[in-house]
Amino acid sequence: VNRRELISELAATLGATHEARFICDEVLGPDANTPVTDAAIRCARELAARRRSGEPLQYLLGHWPFRTVDLQLNSHVLIPRPETEQVVEVALAELQRLAPAKPSLVDAGTGSGAIALSLATELAVKYPNGEVWATDASPEALTVAAANWDRVRHHHAATVLPVTFVAGNWLKGLPPELRGSIDLVIANPPYVAAAEWPELADDVRREPRQALVAADGSDGTPGLADVETVLTQALDWLSRPGTAVIELAPQQAEAAVVLARAMGYDHARVEPDLAQRPRALVCRVQ
Ligand SMILES: C[S@@+](CC[C@H](N)C(=O)[O-])C[C@H]1O[C@@H](n2cnc3c(N)ncnc32)[C@H](O)[C@@H]1O
Repeated sequence: VNRRELISELAATLGATHEARFICDEVLGPDANTPVTDAAIRCARELAARRRSGEPLQYLLGHWPFRTVDLQLNSHVLIPRPETEQVVEVALAELQRLAPAKPSLVDAGTGSGAIALSLATELAVKYPNGEVWATDASPEALTVAAANWDRVRHHHAATVLPVTFVAGNWLKGLPPELRGSIDLVIANPPYVAAAEWPELADDVRREPRQALVAADGSDGTPGLADVETVLTQALDWLSRPGTAVIELAPQQAEAAVVLARAMGYDHARVEPDLAQRPRALVCRVQ
């Protein structure tokens, strides 16, 4: 069996050529001339079997890219999504507008560390004095994020901002002296309503439920409770001026803007994702 034949065989069993390619690249490496050993064929077939049984591709590969970083993943953390890459883009534009001398940023609910670690690498040259905080309520997620931080620090050497991980409920575990000094709070909190969970695709339901499902907001909007909590807590921690950028579901956008204004944010709007659906809630305090 050569590489091309192995890809065809796996593609036929998976019904997805791109997934077969990912698996073969993982097992054989990217070099098309690498000899295909029996051990590699066995390994690729085992990964394909796990995929057929419903395991997400990203978990069985064990890593996945997010913007500038390659993140190790396991089933304790959400698989980083392209929508979130775009939310980071919106956050970067907000930071540009704020232009702080020494930015302090918080990624609330960091999961694999995706947002925090991409910011730490992307901002290091422009803001060498900046600092990034990353929180999560899940100790298992923080273990994955810390391992990713070690890898990123190793790969990016001097050009990465310091990242500090904090266990706790959104922003509550941050050192008290940071109160009122955070320029940007960024979060991709759970925002799937409990009623939607059973209807999600099988492989999505292999991701941690507590990373995806949230209670309803105080106004009854399905799945909005965590977005609302992050918004409420952020008012205590943001500097003036400062901005919260929070990912949400398109159908929550209008309600979230109303809530943010009622909480006292001076400006609230929702930016679209790459599919032009409302996705990134931007809330500023002056
Ligand atoms: C949708 S995932 C986002 C993970 C990562 N930021 C990303 O974009 O890939 C939500 C994260 O919030 C965390 N989380 C849930 N409830 C939390 C809470 N009360 N306080 C802090 N983090 C929480 C989950 O453990 C999970 O890692």
